[in-house]
Amino acid sequence: MNLLHRPVRMHIASVGVSKFCFLFSLVFCGLLLLLIPALQPQARHVDLPHPRPRVRPAQAGKASTYTSQHSGVPAVSSHVGDTDWTTGLNRSSVLQGETEMNINDNHNDKKGTDSKRNPERGAPHRGKVGGLSSSRSRDVLELKDIFIAVKTTRKYHKSRLELLIQTWVSKAKEQTYIFSDGEDKELRMRTGANIINTNCSAAHTRQALCCKMSVEYDKFIESQKKWFCHVDDDNYVILPSLLRLLSSYHHSQDVYLGRPSLDHPIEAAERVKSDGSVSVKFWFATGGAGFCISRGLALKMSPWASLGNFISTAEKIRLPDDCTIGYIIEALLEVTLTHTHLFHSHLENLQKLPTDTVLEQVTLSYGGFENRRNVVSIVRGFSLAEDPTRFKTIHCLLYPDTDWCPKLKPRHKN
Ligand SMILES: *[C@@H]1O[C@H](CO)[C@@H](O)[C@H](O)[C@H]1NC(C)=O
Ligand SMILES: *[C@@H]1O[C@H](CO)[C@@H](O)[C@H](O)[C@H]1NC(C)=O
Repeated sequence: MNLLHRPVRMHIASVGVSKFCFLFSLVFCGLLLLLIPALQPQARHVDLPHPRPRVRPAQAGKASTYTSQHSGVPAVSSHVGDTDWTTGLNRSSVLQGETEMNINDNHNDKKGTDSKRNPERGAPHRGKVGGLSSSRSRDVLELKDIFIAVKTTRKYHKSRLELLIQTWVSKAKEQTYIFSDGEDKELRMRTGANIINTNCSAAHTRQALCCKMSVEYDKFIESQKKWFCHVDDDNYVILPSLLRLLSSYHHSQDVYLGRPSLDHPIEAAERVKSDGSVSVKFWFATGGAGFCISRGLALKMSPWASLGNFISTAEKIRLPDDCTIGYIIEALLEVTLTHTHLFHSHLENLQKLPTDTVLEQVTLSYGGFENRRNVVSIVRGFSLAEDPTRFKTIHCLLYPDTDWCPKLKPRHKN
């Protein structure tokens, strides 16, 4: 009898103890949950999306007009983010005990616009719910929202990269990442530039180029930035124009912007979705002129682009890096390339660009050794000998206060 009963009693006792433990840990966890927000207001604040500064409708309107004039791209309206960020700001302000002035301002700015556009974000929606709004974009993008990847190779660090670092990269140091294939601690220390050694081969082969693009893609995804823009080491990026162009879209839309180098779509054997017996036609933006991809679209590319998948995708269709990007976006995701004439590669006749439109372009380039005179026709400031690429001249027109820019005499003094 005794022998029979003892284990049962012990069992009951242990059930009692674990029940108590269970209840105790429940209470403890509950207390912890309550305490976490009070203990970490800072950390919470960091997690919230950054509130947008107030938007001036006139400015946004200008950006849209600009886009539709110059690239034939219809400006797309988007108000999605603002609403979510406003809510975030609201919440964080409450947490931090700040005033609610910003919130109310933001809210007023958006009166009469639709805010329910993007259900997949899962964020709360406020304001009127309706169809697509026809008003222009009011999403103010900041330079820090753009990830700019510059592709280079060790042998061009001196001859090409230094010029970029001295000019436009200096105005976007934080968000510009230079993807190379060798260490250059000296250049990194001296200029403070973000130089990433991809460990890819320095050969100008399809494999090496795709290897770099693959690293660029992964770094962008990691960065949490809203736009991915890729340029080459012979491109000047006119940052205000880039900002203006991207401001006419929303980063959660599917946007692929660039300039095709061909006047027809490229054709390749379909070896990803089928066995290669059928062919696909698709447009791609030429890498030499630079291109941009919204974060929303970049995330969808992940199965074919992330963590080395880009290299295997490129291997399957046997095309270079920029074509592979076009293939993933146009052929696999069925998102069309938005053609823009604001991006320029060294393959174009750059002298043909009307002088008065040069500063409105998004990227510029210059002819290589074989075509030294293929540069934009801007003559002010430096001579052709001092500034063969014209990049310094352009930089000084955009940022005349730069210390190495020639001080042009004021024309008149009233
Ligand atoms: C946001 O602010 C409004 C007043 O402007 C207030 O009624 C609302 O409760 C706040 N929401 C949150 C989540 O704090
Ligand atoms: C390249 O190799 C170095 C040394 O092994 C490593 O620290 C670095 O993270 C690698 N770069 C990339 C982009 O993987």
